[in-house]
Order: sequence, then C-alpha cells, then structure tokens
Amino acid sequence: MNFKLKLGINIDHVATIRNARGVLHPDPLKAALIAQNAGADNITAHLREDRRHISDIDIKKLVKTLRIPLNLEMAPTNEMLNIAISSKVKRVCLVPEKRKEITTEGGLDVLKNKKKIFNFVKKLKKNNIKVSIFTDPDIKQISVCSNLNVSSVEIHTGEFCDNKKNKRYEYEKLKKSAIFAKKNNLECHAGHGISYETVGRISEIKEISELNIGHFIIGEAIFVGLKKSILKMRKIIDNSRKKNFYLKSA
Ligand code: PXP
Repeated sequence: MNFKLKLGINIDHVATIRNARGVLHPDPLKAALIAQNAGADNITAHLREDRRHISDIDIKKLVKTLRIPLNLEMAPTNEMLNIAISSKVKRVCLVPEKRKEITTEGGLDVLKNKKKIFNFVKKLKKNNIKVSIFTDPDIKQISVCSNLNVSSVEIHTGEFCDNKKNKRYEYEKLKKSAIFAKKNNLECHAGHGISYETVGRISEIKEISELNIGHFIIGEAIFVGLKKSILKMRKIIDNSRKKNFYLKSA
C-alpha cells in the first residue's frame, strides 16, 4: 500500500493571474520551481484549447527546466496529442473540456468514447508517455479505464469537496472507487477542489497514491506565500496518513 502520498501542484492559476494583464508576471515556471523546492512530487498544468491560462511556451519551459515530472492535463484531441509528443512530456492526464466551463466539471466519459480513447491512449503510449484518466468516482467508468491500458486514474473529488450535503455519501463513493481502481491494477490519484479542510479525509483513503491540488494552494499563497501554503498542505496529508496507517499497523 502507498503510505507516502505524493503531492502534485497545479500551477494553472498563476498563469490565470498573469494573463489577466497580458504581461509576463507572475511566471508559472517560477511557481513550479518554488513548488519543486518545497517538495512537490510533480507539477500539473492544463493546456486548454482556448489557452486561457497555461500556454504552449509554458509547457516547453516546464519540461526543459523541472527535475520532477510534468503532469500535462489535456483533452484527447489531435492538437494536444501532437503537443504532448513534440514537447516530450513523460505523463499526461486526459480530461474532458468544455469551452464555457469555469473549471473541469467532471471526469472523462470513457463509457461513451471507449474506442476513441483506447486508440488515443495507444498513440501516447507508443511515444512512451504514461497515461492517466480523470474520472468521476464511478465504478462503471473506472471499469472501462482498466481496459484502456492506462497506468492510473485520477478520481474527481469535486463533489465531495464542494458539496455541503451528502458528504458521507460522496466520501463513500470516493473510497469505493479508489479500492476498485487499485483492485484492477490502476494507480489511484485524486484531485479537484481539495483544501486544508478536505485533504485529511481524502488522505485517509490508503488506495490513493497521489493528490493534485491547484486552486486552493495558489489562493492561499496570496496570504502566506507559495512555499508555506504547500508545506502546510503536505503536513496535513502526512499527519493524516500517519495517524491512519503507521500507527494502526504498528
Ligand atoms: N486534477 C485535475 C484533472 C484537474 O482538472 C484539476 C483542475 O484543473 C485539478 C486536479 C486541480 O483542481 P483544483 O484546482 O480545484 O485544486
């Protein structure tokens, strides 16, 4: 089981602030380097079709400079396939994309697009790119993912984190999904909407091996700085993991 939970930092919203002025500051690469120095296990960036935050040049600079992996989030389109291959990223996470959404609203529907995604994954893997699929906490979707030759799924935690009602129900769905993914030989990641308040409970799910967190950490960085914001998240994760596994198995 994965006792140490990896933490990926999503830097999209550093680019959102930069792009609000159309200037070069703040630089997502600088944020990525601070995250790397603060112990982040990967940097996540979503190159959207409309380039509303991260740009093509950002991706090139991140790949060239970082020593930790870049996890490129992208929609399964030919344009993104070419960028992933030409920029030599080592891992991608396939996400759905709608032009008018504020953020990624749900997981990729692999039930509906099984053949298309299967062929898409094949092309990425041929180029030695590790593939993850962003999925709702839904056993049927994860079951299809397990037949798509991907190495991991990332479970959408948005409903659990944002929904004030049905917290227990949403948590059980996350837990069952993570157990199911692991049983089906998929690494299980999780992300979306995670904050200091919700990260502890999510970290208690031992089948989850990686969290990807962006908006809350970047927001909190405004008040305390990026390094402190990341270190505090790391501490809550480690404490929750320790309390639940190291002590129980001792
Ligand atoms: N994982 C995936 C696949 C995402 O699309 C996002 C949002 O871009 C995140 C994680 C991070 O979510 P948040 O910014 O809410 O922490």
